[in-house]
Amino acid sequence: MDKTKPIIALDVASSQEFNALLQDLAPESLTCKVGMECYYSQGPAVVKSLLEAGHQVFLDLKLHDIPNTVAKSVAVLSQLGCHMLNVHAQGGIKMMRAAVEARNASSHQPLLIAVTQLTSTSLEEFQSLQDSKQNLVQNVLHLAKLAKEVGMDGVVCSPQEVPLIKEDCGAEFLTITPGIRQHLAPEDDQVRVATVQEAKSLGTDYIVVGRPVTAASNPSQSYQTILNEWRS
Ligand code: C5P
Repeated sequence: MDKTKPIIALDVASSQEFNALLQDLAPESLTCKVGMECYYSQGPAVVKSLLEAGHQVFLDLKLHDIPNTVAKSVAVLSQLGCHMLNVHAQGGIKMMRAAVEARNASSHQPLLIAVTQLTSTSLEEFQSLQDSKQNLVQNVLHLAKLAKEVGMDGVVCSPQEVPLIKEDCGAEFLTITPGIRQHLAPEDDQVRVATVQEAKSLGTDYIVVGRPVTAASNPSQSYQTILNEWRS
């Protein structure tokens, strides 16, 4: 999957909004992400149409269920021909292994990525959920190592965690990092954030950018600015 472009999160539900956004952004081919909002409203057809138009697609459905269900779902979703697919690492080792096996058995083989801890989760929220004083970064690293062990291609994490993951899991193990912000608005749900430049200098493979482009007054201009920063 093309590393020279930011992954743009096409987080819109209606096909009108989707088409308008695509028209704005896509004189050139995009590396883009179809998440729950878009997939649940438009279904597999949206992935197929993006692929047919020459875009690269990360299908971000964050699967998290029993191993059998996840394996069957990975098999079905791989057949769509998307370039990248993900599951929650917290679904467990057996679940991740089943996902890898299903992907490996498929004729289309998307990169398979494990979500560690969501970039919207703060240390306080993590500790309260775990009911422990465990360190969030250490937990992200632990989940990344498990993902690597079972044959996943990489993880979704915060840019801040990339150097540690690369050190322990190797440079080839992919890091996909949302939480990209120039300025954090008070109402924003992202917590473990970084700028494009910071993410780049921390060594991430892919940045995921949603609202800084999709909610901008001029999405196309915003996309070009971020693209230039990422490439500079
Ligand atoms: O709008 P924003 O730039 O925050 O969008 C980030 C995108 O990345 C969203 O589509 C969100 O679902 C996704 N994502 C995330 N954190 C993760 C995994 C995916 O924010 N850990």
